[in-house]
Formats: sequence, structure tokens, C-alpha cells
Amino acid sequence: MPAIVLLGAQWGDEGKGKATDLLGEQVDYVVKYNGGNNAGHTIVIGDEKYALHLLPAGVLTPSVTPVIGNGVVVDLGVLFGEIDGLEARGVDTSRLVVSANAHIITGYHTTVDKVGERFLGDAKIGTTGRGIGPAYADKMSRIGVRAQDLFDEKILRQKVEGALEQKNQLLVKAYNRKALSVDAVVDDLLVHVDRLRPLVADTSLLLTKALDDGKVVLLEGGQATMLDVDHGTYPFVTSSNPTAGGACTGSGIPPTRIDRVVAIVKAYTTRVGSGPFPTELLDVDGERLREQGAEFGTTTGRPRRCGWYDAVIARYSARINGVTDFVLTKLDVLTGFERIPVCVGYRIGDKTYDEMPMTQTEFHHAEPVYEEFPGWDEDISAARSIEDLPKNARRYVEAVEAMTSVPISVVGVGAERDASIVVRSLV
Ligand code: GDP
Ligand code: IMO
Ligand code: MG
Repeated sequence: MPAIVLLGAQWGDEGKGKATDLLGEQVDYVVKYNGGNNAGHTIVIGDEKYALHLLPAGVLTPSVTPVIGNGVVVDLGVLFGEIDGLEARGVDTSRLVVSANAHIITGYHTTVDKVGERFLGDAKIGTTGRGIGPAYADKMSRIGVRAQDLFDEKILRQKVEGALEQKNQLLVKAYNRKALSVDAVVDDLLVHVDRLRPLVADTSLLLTKALDDGKVVLLEGGQATMLDVDHGTYPFVTSSNPTAGGACTGSGIPPTRIDRVVAIVKAYTTRVGSGPFPTELLDVDGERLREQGAEFGTTTGRPRRCGWYDAVIARYSARINGVTDFVLTKLDVLTGFERIPVCVGYRIGDKTYDEMPMTQTEFHHAEPVYEEFPGWDEDISAARSIEDLPKNARRYVEAVEAMTSVPISVVGVGAERDASIVVRSLV
């Protein structure tokens, strides 16, 4: 006791990394339960800036045990590259544990991801090109390679042979690429086996025992609710379940042990890649949000699409995830806007909606219905309590809180670790 889920409420990059880091020593384990190195979390501690992709954000706290859960897809080259990068900066990564059941991203997954996107043309998803979708597709097709398979070379070879039988057909016949050899793929994987072996464990068992011992386990989602393969804006989604249910399947912790679900939500909205985005701003306000919020991708460097806060999506996230607390981030980025619109519903044809519409076609045609709030000019980055905020900033926070009926427990007012207003402790 207790297990806490921390996840993104919008389309990613809400500031999950900073929120995890903020919990710091209050938690004992931080478990990544979905996704892979498509994630990018920027964490600022004093003058140091860290960009994490595959490692859980908790790795920066010396007392935390970081865990890569079974629901994650792992590119071993990236994993050890990230470990080496952190070690070179004095971060101790030796406590890291990796699930024996986590699936491995191989070279053919990244190739198929990139070539597949090219073949989609205008219909492309805008993936991060990290092999995420193809690796999850192989997991579901039951031709994936798991971490534990690297410890039995005969099994590994059989699995790679089986996977390549299909992949080579695709690469050669559909994509006009060279076939891959089993030996080359197996050798690429086995390069990492000696480093991987001591990290691998039955992480479900480890975490259940930790909960039994009264440890605090934080389950950290990559991506976000609207990128969920079941509940997001399919097909413009990632290939995993970042939502709260995914925290259970992706870690082996049952739902009955989860105490709190904390959703991170930006005070406006951003999205990377293709897909519908009702409040997107293609004007000077969108450009200003991007500049003031430094909205450029941590993983691919792409400029993020920016728009106003969407309360329909926040409510949807609250419902899908059973959110108990919101962390409202980047309020400081709204400073200086004279008026701040908030989307409170959609107009689709001649109807209005205050819930997500049922079909993709409807959502593609959703026009935001806005309510406007007066802005503020004062610098709020030093605020450490709600009372420190100017009246209009407070009003904005209270208004968006009332729109979901879930308490906002933390408000972010800057990128640095301590630039937060904590209304209610998350642990
Ligand atoms: P994540 O993927 O959800 O962890 O988010 P990212 O790290 O990709 O993007 C969030 C960015 O906003 C990072 O650069 C953070 O340092 C920064 N950030 C987080 N919270 C705040 C905040 O309250 N204010 C400001 N100005 N920046 C923040
Ligand atoms: P964090 O954890 C924002 C987006 C990609 C693309 C879609 C599918 O930093 O919030 P994928 O490579 O996963 O198959 O791409 O999902 N995407 C993200 N967008 N933040 C992320 O992670 C993302 N991870 C994937 O841009 O549209
Ligand atoms: Mg990110």
C-alpha cells in the first residue's frame, strides 16, 4: 500500500516527468507500464536538464527503484545508451529492474515503422519512428521476442526465424527492401545479453511483495489518454494502453490495489503527429503558446501543435481513468494572454455535445464551443500557494476544476522541480 497511477490526460507531454520527479522520495518504486522510447520526459533540476525516454522518471531519485514493466516495449540499444548517458552525468541507475515479459524492439520493427509511415502518405500517423507499433503488433500476433528469450539462444533463434518469415515477405515484396538474416538479428540482440541478465526479474511478483511490505508504488504512464489504442483518437494513437487499465496489465498489479489515479493535464493543449484536435490554433495565439511553452518534442524535436484547454477531453479522461486528482501544469505559459478561451463543448453539424462524440467522423468535424476567461499579466512562477496567484489566474484554475468535478491537487508554474503549488499531497 499504496499504488498510485500517474498518467497523461490529453495527447502527451503534459509534464508527467516533472510530476513524477516532484513526488521524489515519497515513493519507493516508479514503474513504467506502457510504451517505450517514443516517450520523452524533460526534467529540470537546478541547472541540470534531463531528457528521459525509456527509463522511468523516478530514476533521478536515489531512493527510488525504477522498474520497466511487462507492458513496455524495450529497444535494448536505447536502454543501455540512456543508462550510459545518465551514469556519465553521475546518476546511479544500478537499481533498475526490467520485466522478463517485456517485449523487445528489434531493427526490423523500426524499419517497418518508418517504411510503413512512408507508404501511408497523407494518411500517416506521424509516429516517432521508434518501432513501437510494429513491436506491439508482433506481441499481439504472438511472434514477439521477450526479454527472457535472450537467455535461451535456441528459443531466441526460433522466435526470430518465425518473425522474419513474415517480416521478410513484407520488406521484400511490399516495401522493396532487402531481406534480413536471422543471424544478424540474433547477433544484434545477443550483444546486450550479459548487461541485460542482472536487470531482469519477475516484476509483478516484486511489486506485489513491495505493496505487501507497505512500500509506495507509482505507476507512470507514457503517452496519454487520447493516444490510447482503445480510448484515444484511433487510428491516430500509439499502440499501447496509457490509460489506467493499462497500468494493471502493464505491471501485473491488480486494480484492487490501486488507491489513486493522478492525471496530468496542461492548462492548454498540445499534440504531436497527425489526427483530430478540435481546439488547435493555427494563428498567432498558437504560435505564442508554442514559443512561451517551448512546445517542441523531446523525442523528435517536432514543433507541437498547440490549442486552448479542452474541458470535454479533461472530463473524458476523468471518466475513462477514474481520476482522483488532476495536476494542472504550465499555468505560467498562459501569462500575458488578454483573454483565455476554454472549450466547454463541441458543435457538430447542428448539435452540441458536452461529451466525446461516439464516432471518429463526428470528432473530426467537432467545432469547439468556447467560454472566455480574463487573463493576467503578473509573473506567477514564484507562486507556491493558490493565494499567491493573481485573481484571474485563480479564477481560471477554479473554473477548469469545476468543469471536471475532480480536484486539482497541484498546479505547475514553471519547469523547475519546485515550481509547483501543492494544494493536496499526491501520496
Ligand atoms: P511528459 O512527456 O508528460 O513528461 O512532458 P514533456 O517533458 O515532454 O513536456 C513537458 C515540458 O514542460 C517539459 O519541458 C517540462 O520541463 C515542462 N514543464 C512541466 N511542467 C511545467 C510547468 O508547470 N511550467 C512550465 N513552464 N514548464 C513545465
Ligand atoms: P510522452 O510520454 C506526445 C504520438 C506520436 C504519434 C503517435 C504514434 O512524452 O507524452 P508511436 O511512435 O507511439 O507509434 O506514435 O503518438 N506520441 C506522442 N506524442 N508525447 C508522447 O509521449 C508520444 N508518444 C507517441 O507523435 O502521433
Ligand atoms: Mg513528452
